[in-house]
Amino acid sequence: MWPCRTMIPEQNPTNLSGALPYPRKIFGRTRGKRLRPAQQRRLEEVLPRYVIKGVSLSENPQRLLLDLSELPGPPEGPLWLEIGFGAGEHLVAMAQAYPEVRLLGVEPFINGVASALGRLEEAGATNVALFPGDVRDLFDVLPDACLAKVFLNYPDPWPKKRHHKRRFVTSEYLVPLARVCAPQAEFRLASDVPSYIEQARKTVPAAGFELVWDSFAPWLDWPGTRYEVKALREGRKPHYLTFRRCGAHALEPGAMAQISLGRVSQR
Ligand SMILES: C[S@@+](CC[C@H](N)C(=O)[O-])C[C@H]1O[C@@H](n2cnc3c(N)ncnc32)[C@H](O)[C@@H]1O
Repeated sequence: MWPCRTMIPEQNPTNLSGALPYPRKIFGRTRGKRLRPAQQRRLEEVLPRYVIKGVSLSENPQRLLLDLSELPGPPEGPLWLEIGFGAGEHLVAMAQAYPEVRLLGVEPFINGVASALGRLEEAGATNVALFPGDVRDLFDVLPDACLAKVFLNYPDPWPKKRHHKRRFVTSEYLVPLARVCAPQAEFRLASDVPSYIEQARKTVPAAGFELVWDSFAPWLDWPGTRYEVKALREGRKPHYLTFRRCGAHALEPGAMAQISLGRVSQR
């Protein structure tokens, strides 16, 4: 376990804004099929070795910012985040390919967390910490500009137009993401949903990122994911975008108020 909290509440913009946005609703599944005994054992015995403490509301009701110095991995190593790591293929591949980096993985679907734990154990990865929950809860307690790279691989597509507002590429997620990304931080997005890519091309730059890679060709170090295999099998075409955080400062609170579906102001 990584006991990470020391910062004073006044430093946390979530507190400055007054009312906290709890309880949050996760629209996707957080539980799937009944867990096998091995998965259950991993959640009970292995997860505590990887879990980041002080993220959930019950552990940290004041939403104190985390002190990240005690995260596993090289103490001065850059910090990367994978949002919705699913069964953990990409997370573990990155941890192994980049031992000089510290990786945070967030995933609310408990069956996925159990699978990822199996991969982490097998790989013996020592530079990874996990939060088995909602990335918005993690954003609340991350210090400004702490992340050097962020991965969002095949986020839930929410294909119906009336559900596009649930997508990650909306202000609810992008405003806090922009705050916690360091200047020049890389934000990678893979998706097989054309309307998702189209939405991201508008909303992510509006949140303070520059689009630097827009291609059907993946990144050189891309290991693929389980969801991508499914997308290819079903004849969908993966698309890869890379954004770079611009500017030296996090966005002012409310700066994204204008950004909503179909009403995007490019800067
Ligand atoms: C379509 S799956 C893709 C999984 C994996 N990235 C892959 O490519 O195989 C999307 C994942 O995002 C996760 N997710 C949904 N809402 C989330 C949230 N608020 N915070 C973190 N992860 C979330 C889901 O639980 C799910 O595992």
